[in-house]
Amino acid sequence: MKKTVFSGMQPTGVGQLGNYLGAIKNWVSLQDEYNCLYSVVDLHAITIRQEPDVLRQNSLDLLAMFISCGLDPDKNIIYMQSHYHGHTELAWLLSCYAYFGELSRQAQYKDKSAKNAENVNVGLFSYPVLQAADILLFGTNFVPVGEDQKQHLELSRDIAIRFNNAYGETFAVPEPLIPKTAARVKSLSHPDKKMSKSDDAGSYISLLDPAETVMKKFKRAVTDSETEIRYDPENKPGISNLLEIYAVTNDMTIQAAASEFAGKNYGALKIATAEAVIGKITDPIQSKYFDLAKNVDYLYEIMRKNAARARDLGDKTLQNVKNKIGLIL
Ligand code: TYM
Repeated sequence: MKKTVFSGMQPTGVGQLGNYLGAIKNWVSLQDEYNCLYSVVDLHAITIRQEPDVLRQNSLDLLAMFISCGLDPDKNIIYMQSHYHGHTELAWLLSCYAYFGELSRQAQYKDKSAKNAENVNVGLFSYPVLQAADILLFGTNFVPVGEDQKQHLELSRDIAIRFNNAYGETFAVPEPLIPKTAARVKSLSHPDKKMSKSDDAGSYISLLDPAETVMKKFKRAVTDSETEIRYDPENKPGISNLLEIYAVTNDMTIQAAASEFAGKNYGALKIATAEAVIGKITDPIQSKYFDLAKNVDYLYEIMRKNAARARDLGDKTLQNVKNKIGLIL
């Protein structure tokens, strides 16, 4: 029997290069071998205040982006998290098996509550429990994510193990699949930080940036005052980031990329990396996206159909969990 893969992405835009290289690219490579569910996690996005019309548009756009990046909506279950109530229902049940202390230690909660001091809502705090529910709802075996999600994944595993110990084997214990290269793509302007859409526009590549913008951003990427190209993330974070992006975009190892650029200048690496990324995102991703995004009826049809498939799978787990806890079915 095929094993199950689940992953999700917040609809805060159509995604940046880190989302693609750290997550979506790997999702695509898993779609033939596993039963995969990929969700637009709109309920996670509302832990930060959203403009309603913008959230709706971003959710639809991200769904179109998933497909444009190569996810087949017939093979995979691609859907909106909010279209299946099982996520929130299981999240409540699991919240009674998650501890205040372990949630307080989550790095993302500490970061986001510091950045949004005026809106430290309960959802922001219990966010990882909803994420555990997303995963555990489907008997998920593998969760392909970037490195920043590692701590949340550990919590999901702890909750699964705790529940299994209390009630007997109920949940599969999920394993993270974190890529060897590009697990944490760095910001182009602050290469000590991860690339993120919440930073200045020059620091990240949007998957919808036109070729000239991509080239301009890479040319301005912060490097260092030396001249030697070598992979050394500790001392040369900017150059190492470019080498990682170049390597993973061309499906080669970092070592091979580093030896290709040995003795060349920084400008050559910046231009070659920009060209590799442009080659990946303009065609087929953007050309497909601009076609699909117009086809709203088709996108609605996909999300409705796939939410029903998710429901069929998740309801079985939900019934089992409720029964084990002692709720009358
Ligand atoms: P999100 O929406 O922040 O990011 C989606 C995916 O992109 C990866 N990622 C990166 N990878 C490498 N370098 C980067 N700079 C970079 N930035 C983002 C993330 O690691 C992630 O894999 N909580 C999750 C969404 C979520 C989820 C889930 C994931 C909700 N439920 C269940 C897996 C399973 C999040 O906020 O990801």
